[in-house]
Amino acid sequence: MPLDTPVVDIDLAAFTADPYPVLASMRKNTPVCFVPQLRATLLTRHEDVVECEKNVAVFSSEQPGGLMNVLMGENMMRKDGAQHVIERRQAMPALSPRAVKQVWKQQFEYHTDKVIESLRSKTRCDLVADFAMPVSAHALRCITGLMNMTPHQLDTCSQNIIDGISNYAGHQSIEDRCKESTSFIDQCIDEMLAPGSDLSSESLLQVLVAAGQPMTSIRSNIKLAISGGQNEPRDAIAGCVWALLNHPQQLAAVLQGGASWRQVFEEYARWISPIGMSPRRIAKPYTSGDASFTPEGRAF
Ligand code: HEM
Repeated sequence: MPLDTPVVDIDLAAFTADPYPVLASMRKNTPVCFVPQLRATLLTRHEDVVECEKNVAVFSSEQPGGLMNVLMGENMMRKDGAQHVIERRQAMPALSPRAVKQVWKQQFEYHTDKVIESLRSKTRCDLVADFAMPVSAHALRCITGLMNMTPHQLDTCSQNIIDGISNYAGHQSIEDRCKESTSFIDQCIDEMLAPGSDLSSESLLQVLVAAGQPMTSIRSNIKLAISGGQNEPRDAIAGCVWALLNHPQQLAAVLQGGASWRQVFEEYARWISPIGMSPRRIAKPYTSGDASFTPEGRAF
């Protein structure tokens, strides 16, 4: 870490519980700062993030030793340039907005209706566990093609992987649970690829196979889709409902057609983002304002 970059110490437990006050103070006083507890430089202003994330020659997604690659295998999110473009294009037939509209929307609605139906007889329910979790998981089962996983298994695998790849403190039990889940996903992939399975031709698994993506990359990219593709929608679905129930005027605006569900999602994702930060590796020396970055450092 270069001497001229401001250093800000954080209480890791308090930051994990509620990062917003610390991030607001950083944004105001030390927008680019080194945080020893994260062993990383944090960029906290939107304009800096927008500028740096596009500069992949310096802020590279390639992190061979990063937890995401080590635990999930090399996936598209940890690649730059041509290799990233190839894998992203190969996934598009299953993940594009058009595929969502033309193929998945109907299936999502079918499963969501069934989840709502299952809640009718209950006097109480938990918004996350009983509603957002299965709604998100059923959608992800369809999209990935892993219909042999139950919603609960999918949710557990997703959480274990997310916990594993953010396990910067190096807890062995967290790493072990993550490895158990990635092996389980591999078994489920093998099962769905076996002759006679009813793998959907439109699923992510099948479109990657049809595109000729190497099997190791397919496994990593399916794990990537499961890690972010369950946690994020689950928390966004529950979060949007929670936010509207706590802001009746906003809820009324949506129900009366004055605001759209898309606006609800976009404002929620801006306000309480389901993904707080995503690391990049410093690939070569770089200076920006008061901060300088040295190769092999980590920036969030
Ligand atoms: C509320 C829902 C979601 C949010 C907020 C979200 C957020 C994100 C973010 C912030 C990234 C990183 C982008 C970057 O580093 O440039 C990402 C990447 C990715 N997400 Fe999601 N995600 C969501 C749902 C999903 C779902 C449902 C899937 C799959 C079914 C998915 C699959 C992916 C993939 C494959 C990537 C890597 C893209 C690439 O490297 O080009 N995500 N997501």
